[in-house]
Parts: sequence; C-alpha cells; structure tokens
Amino acid sequence: MLQVEGLTVRFGGLTAVNDLSFSVRAGEVFAMMGPNGAGKTTAFDAIGGFVQASAGAVRFDDRPILGMAPERIAALGIRRTFQNNGILREMSVLENVLTGLELSTPNTFLGVVTGWPSAARAERSAVRRARGMLEQMDIAELEERAAGDLSFGQQRMVEIARALVAGARLIMLDEPAVGLSPNERVHLGQVLRRLAGTGIAILLVEHVQDLVMAVSDEVLVLNYGRKLVQGPPETVRQNQEVLEAYLGNG
Ligand SMILES: Nc1ncnc2c1ncn2[C@@H]1O[C@H](COP(=O)(O)OP(=O)(O)OP(=O)(O)O)[C@@H](O)[C@H]1O
Ligand SMILES: [Mg+2]
Repeated sequence: MLQVEGLTVRFGGLTAVNDLSFSVRAGEVFAMMGPNGAGKTTAFDAIGGFVQASAGAVRFDDRPILGMAPERIAALGIRRTFQNNGILREMSVLENVLTGLELSTPNTFLGVVTGWPSAARAERSAVRRARGMLEQMDIAELEERAAGDLSFGQQRMVEIARALVAGARLIMLDEPAVGLSPNERVHLGQVLRRLAGTGIAILLVEHVQDLVMAVSDEVLVLNYGRKLVQGPPETVRQNQEVLEAYLGNG
C-alpha cells in the first residue's frame, strides 16, 4: 500500500532522514522506533506532505505522492495524529470526530443551516459514520462529553477516530501511548490490532517497547535518520544487544 524509497529530508546541514526505504501492506501494523531526534516524526511529516523531502520517492497505491499538498495526500487516504495531542478540548467527542470529515464533505454544516435536504442527509450520514468509529474505539458512550475532560487514553481514541472517519486506509500515529496508563496501553494495542484486522494499515512511531512488540507485524529502528534494523518483533528483539549498544535501554 505504501512504498518509501530512499527518502531523505535535510534541514540545512542536518540530514534528519537519510535514504530510508520500507513498505507497509494493507492490514499491517508497522512500527518505527529510535531515540529522540532519530527522524521518526520527520519521516511522517515527509510522507504526509508536511515537510519537503530532499530526495526519494513515496508511493501510495502505486501513485507517487511526494510533493503533493497535505490535503491531497489526506484525501487519498493517509491521515495522521500528532505527537502533541491535537484534540479540540472544548468540543464534544462527537464534534471532534466530525472535524475529521471536513475535507471530504465541504459545506455540510452550512447546508444544514440553510436547509438543503441533501446537506441534511449528508450530515446524518456523517454523524452515523462518526458514531460507528466511536464504537470501534470503545468510546461510543462518551460522545456528548467535552473531549478535554476525558482521560489521555480516551482522548487518543478520539484522535484515532477522527483520523479514520473520512475513510483513511493508512494512519500514522506519532507516539500514541504517551501519557497512557498500563491498562490504556493494552486497550490501545487491542484497538490497533482490531483496526488492522479490517485492512487498515497502521504506521506507528512509539517508544513504549512492550506495546510495539505486542502489536507490530514489522519493526524498523531508526538512528540518526538511517535504518538500523528492520524485521518482525522477535527478530528485532534478538538484535536487542546490538540495539542497546546503540540506543541505550529506552
Ligand atoms: N523543522 C525543522 N527544522 C530543522 N530541524 C528539524 C526540524 N524538524 C526536526 N528537525 C531536526 O531533525 C531531527 C529529527 O527530528 P524528529 O522530530 O524527526 O525526531 P524524532 O525521531 O521524531 O524524535 P522524538 O522521539 O524526540 O520525537 C532532529 O535533529 C530535529 O532537531
Ligand atoms: Mg517525534
């Protein structure tokens, strides 16, 4: 589904992502690990069109996407969450998820105000979709609550629902386990596996090793922008000694 080839991102003299290649299949959980500053977020940014790549190619369903605007890439079906929680705290859970549809259904809400029947239908179907996503995330009963009042784990579910509601087929999650309790981490892992089971591809940046090892089909370790090792979790775990020499224990 996603093919990254020789991706390179330079910021002035710093090469944040260096000749990085990997591919992600439908239904796969693909994790990227590596120390602070390794280039994980920058790789997401480049794939999503948020920073310009200096070299390389990225294909989504065999279509080259590097250089496209972020909105176009999102419209093709790649969505992400951000490292610093992007929740709209004052809005309800349902409204937060509905904002994920803005790109694909312009003027829906204006249409409702002005009474277009087609817009009212679109709005009803949008709400249905959003509720369906909340159910998949196990937070359906929270739809009326202000998102800012939820636990971190619940907020993370809202963010993922928002990323998926417009029909994304690949989601990029940047450190989704930050701030989560152990139980919430387990739940997050279950939800990610459930989503992958529906054919959604998940690209995950995560420091929490237990979560990565438990949910990932494939793990890639980045260091100074370069791929150090890639393989199934067991293989990467076997490389642990090598990794610890490079990465320390975190
Ligand atoms: N917009 C930018 N301009 C200049 N340098 C940048 C920019 N964004 C990131 N960098 C640098 O690129 C390198 C990679 O940063 P990046 O944020 O991708 O790392 P990361 O692996 O996501 O780290 P963390 O685990 O801390 O989130 C770092 O040295 C960082 O300082
Ligand atoms: Mg980062």
